[in-house]
Amino acid sequence: MATSKIQQEIEELSTKLKHYNTQYYQKSVSEVSDYEFDILLKQLQKLEEENPAFKKTDSPTQRVGGTITKDFETVRHEYPMLSLGNTYSVEDLEEFDQRIQKTIGEEYEYVSELKFDGVAISLTYENGLLVRGVTRGDGVQGDDVTANVRTIRSIPLRVVGDNLPEKFEVRGEVFMPRVEFDRLNNEIAQENEQRVKDGKKPNNLLANPRNSASGTLKMQDSAIVAHRKLDCYCYDVLGENLDFKTHSEAIAQIDKWGFNVSPTYQKCETIQEVTTFINKWENQRTELPLDIDGIVLKINRFEQRKILGFTSKSPRWAISYKYKAESAKTELENVIYQVGRTGAVTPVAELAPVQLAGTTVKRASLHNANEILRLDLHKNDLVFVEKGGEIIPKITGVDLASRKETAELIEFPTTCPECETELIRAEDKAVFYCPNQQGCPPQVKGRIEHFIHRKSLYVDSLGAETISQLFSLGLVKDPSDLYSLTKEQLTQMERFGEKSADNLLEGLEESKKVPFQRVLFGLGIRFVGSTVAKKLTEAFKNIESLSKATFEQLIEVPEIGDRIAQSVIDYFADEQNLTFVEKLKQAGLQFEIDETQNQQTSNLLEGKTFVVSGVFTQFSRDALKKTITENGGKVVSSISAKLSYLVAGEKMGPAKLKKAEKLEVPIISEEEFLGMIG
Ligand code: IVH
Repeated sequence: MATSKIQQEIEELSTKLKHYNTQYYQKSVSEVSDYEFDILLKQLQKLEEENPAFKKTDSPTQRVGGTITKDFETVRHEYPMLSLGNTYSVEDLEEFDQRIQKTIGEEYEYVSELKFDGVAISLTYENGLLVRGVTRGDGVQGDDVTANVRTIRSIPLRVVGDNLPEKFEVRGEVFMPRVEFDRLNNEIAQENEQRVKDGKKPNNLLANPRNSASGTLKMQDSAIVAHRKLDCYCYDVLGENLDFKTHSEAIAQIDKWGFNVSPTYQKCETIQEVTTFINKWENQRTELPLDIDGIVLKINRFEQRKILGFTSKSPRWAISYKYKAESAKTELENVIYQVGRTGAVTPVAELAPVQLAGTTVKRASLHNANEILRLDLHKNDLVFVEKGGEIIPKITGVDLASRKETAELIEFPTTCPECETELIRAEDKAVFYCPNQQGCPPQVKGRIEHFIHRKSLYVDSLGAETISQLFSLGLVKDPSDLYSLTKEQLTQMERFGEKSADNLLEGLEESKKVPFQRVLFGLGIRFVGSTVAKKLTEAFKNIESLSKATFEQLIEVPEIGDRIAQSVIDYFADEQNLTFVEKLKQAGLQFEIDETQNQQTSNLLEGKTFVVSGVFTQFSRDALKKTITENGGKVVSSISAKLSYLVAGEKMGPAKLKKAEKLEVPIISEEEFLGMIG
């Protein structure tokens, strides 16, 4: 094909796909099937790959993802992202309204909006192009998640239209639609069936749409983000010299520019009208495509907002009204007691199944013994269950009027439900522990599960079921026994073939390379989570020094308090733990930090930031990045005006080059870089 023909074809395909996207995401009209859409998209992708010069930053293919971001760059917000004051009652709203009346002293109106339960995002556009998508972070600075934001189809990559400011920022809420959440969980459940067959650990289901949206937005591989079809409702626009007088005018305009504005917002003149809005959506919330947790009330006129101003955390011209968590009443059938890896015994209520916020609830968390006392729980009580942000609902009260006189009080057991050892009480008296650490099955199995977890030694080829079998057969009593397992032993187990055995042995061999900080986390020392493990390994370098550290030395380490320090001391004072660590050492696990990985050779690049792109002759890309950090520099993933250098290799993407040129970032070659570090 002639070049001009190719360019024309790319443009035509792009226009068509953009049109279908707008119709689908902004007008809910499907003009073509998903299949036809994908065929056109693939055609465009192929043409662009073959002719990269014609690929534009706002091409529909940019939504397919494919960018891997190691560490998200931290970006300072041009306008801080504040939070909102919360209320739970109409009285509070009336008080808010009276304060407004007093301060403004003239007529005013509100805009009521839904409070979308997702993740706040800031989208910056320059000359109509989406240049940055940043999370809220701490409100002052957030993570640059542009590559992931580009995969969200309802967020325009290019905006055209009247009165388009040269630069502006749109804010909104990224969310995972409920149907998408269900689709993904079904997909995970299906994959898990296969994983279990292959002797692998099943993956966790997604907890709830909000956490899934926030987790997805922070994923490193934007192709996975694209697969997870996030969406975004926009509710604000900011910038210099925007000439809107009211909020309703502003959101009507961003709607026209192609942003996804929820059609649910409504002007209200009185708190009575606001209450009607609140009640309407409390009843109709299940009809929405996403979860909401309340409504947001905003003064409409910007002039009046100026008069009202801000507190240090939130605007005085807006407030949110939160819905009470949904609740249901049902019968408490039984209380069971689960023993965790630390020996803590947690009561769990078994309930007569009841519908709550769209799911069937059969269990509720009871936290600890004090909670049972506080609720004064009796068998067969009618209880109120509520669902907050968590997946496991909790019991909030008992319908005392319906309790029979003969009802039996629920009493916490005195012996372990798993091994019958007498329970002991923790100092705070709320938690009961089973002290039989070495013999109580769920404790032993729980420690092994923790040891092989993704954040610890990550032995993906070992699942809970296999751990159970290994334990029952007496082959594994603690994680160190895993390293003496043989293929013969493994293949004798039920439903465990040669392939599974090879995978497991290979996984265990690989785990010997896992760095010290993750091994330390895997030991399961109380209160030593993965961040604490990192701090401890950085401070003590190896297990010998850590095991001999005094209380004073431990609390000198940043973020290590009395509780953690004492727990570390107690751990290494126990002979059994020392034998366990020694066995792991003999097996070849890492018990000291790899100095070569952290070694800094010079400060020559201190304070400088680098983007590395393309293919190099004397270094691999990773080695080049390592050299930068070893010399005190920082490697970032995206090009901004603040970037110190772009190190450009062969075959680097034209978009990056163009952006660096536009922002006048110095572009250096591999040789020039080598010159910098002598
Ligand atoms: S306006 C000054 N409008 O609520 C705050 N926020 O607590 C401006 N949110 O971080 C925010 N729906 O993530 C606004 N219709 C809506 C919203 C909304 C959800 C979230 C947003 C923000 C948080 C504030």
